[in-house]
Amino acid sequence: MDNLVRLRTVVKQYEPAGPPALGGVDLTVAPGEAVAVMGPSGSGKSTLLNLVAGLDRPSGGEVEVAGTVLNRLSETALARFRRANIGIVFQFFHLLDELTARDNVLLPAQLAGSSRRAARARADELLEALGVAGRADAYPARLSGGERQRVAVARALINRPPLLLADEPTGAVDARAGAQVLGLLRDLNQGGQTVLLVTHDESLAKGAATRIETMRDGRWAA
Ligand SMILES: Nc1ncnc2c1ncn2[C@@H]1O[C@H](COP(=O)(O)OP(=O)(O)O)[C@@H](O)[C@H]1O
Ligand SMILES: [Mg+2]
Repeated sequence: MDNLVRLRTVVKQYEPAGPPALGGVDLTVAPGEAVAVMGPSGSGKSTLLNLVAGLDRPSGGEVEVAGTVLNRLSETALARFRRANIGIVFQFFHLLDELTARDNVLLPAQLAGSSRRAARARADELLEALGVAGRADAYPARLSGGERQRVAVARALINRPPLLLADEPTGAVDARAGAQVLGLLRDLNQGGQTVLLVTHDESLAKGAATRIETMRDGRWAA
C-alpha cells in the first residue's frame, strides 16, 4: 500500500461566516510513520484528526484512509470502516464508567463480531503488555489518569487497526504518566504501528514522532 492517510485540499468550515477551521490542507502519512501535528490551541488539530477518524465530514477536499475515500461513505459504512481501520485515543480517555477496564477494552472487538472469549483473551494480552493487567477488573473511576490512558490505548488497539490516532494523549495526565504514554506510543511505532497524533506537548512530539508538522490558523505553518 502507498500512503495510509492522504488528505487533498481539505477544508472544514463549521460556521458559514468567518475563517474556516481548516483552509485547504494536504497531508500524507506512510505506513510505519509516526506523525505529530503541533500548533497552538484553536489551530485546527482536533478538526484534522476527527476528519481522518471519520468522526466528522469535510466541507471540501478529500479524506482517504487505507485506500478508502471517506467522503462518500454512509454513516453505517463509516462506522464499519472505523472499527476495522482506526484506533483512537482522546485527551479525556472517553472510557465508559459503567464497564470495567477489561470490558472497555474488549467492547470494540465484540462490536466487530469477535466472540467474547477471543476478545477477552486479546484484551487481557493488551492490558498485560501495557502494564495494567492488575487493573482489569477495576472501573475507570478507580484508575489513575495514566492507567485510564493505558486502558484507552489498549481499547484503541484491540481490533489491530492499521492507523492509531491520538488527540492530546498526555493533555490530562501528570508528568510521569505522560512519559509512560510517550514511551508506549514510541514502542508501538517501533513495532510497526502507524501513528498520527496531535498535541501541543513538544516533548511528546519530539519523543514519539518520526516527523513533526505544525499548523497555524487551519493551515500548515511555513
Ligand atoms: N464543533 C465545532 N463547531 C464550531 N466551531 C468549532 C468546532 N470545533 C472546533 N471549532 C473551531 O475550529 C477551530 C479549530 O478548532 P480545533 O480543531 O479544536 O483546534 P485545536 O485542536 O488545534 O485546538 C477553532 O476556532 C474552534 O473554535
Ligand atoms: Mg484540540
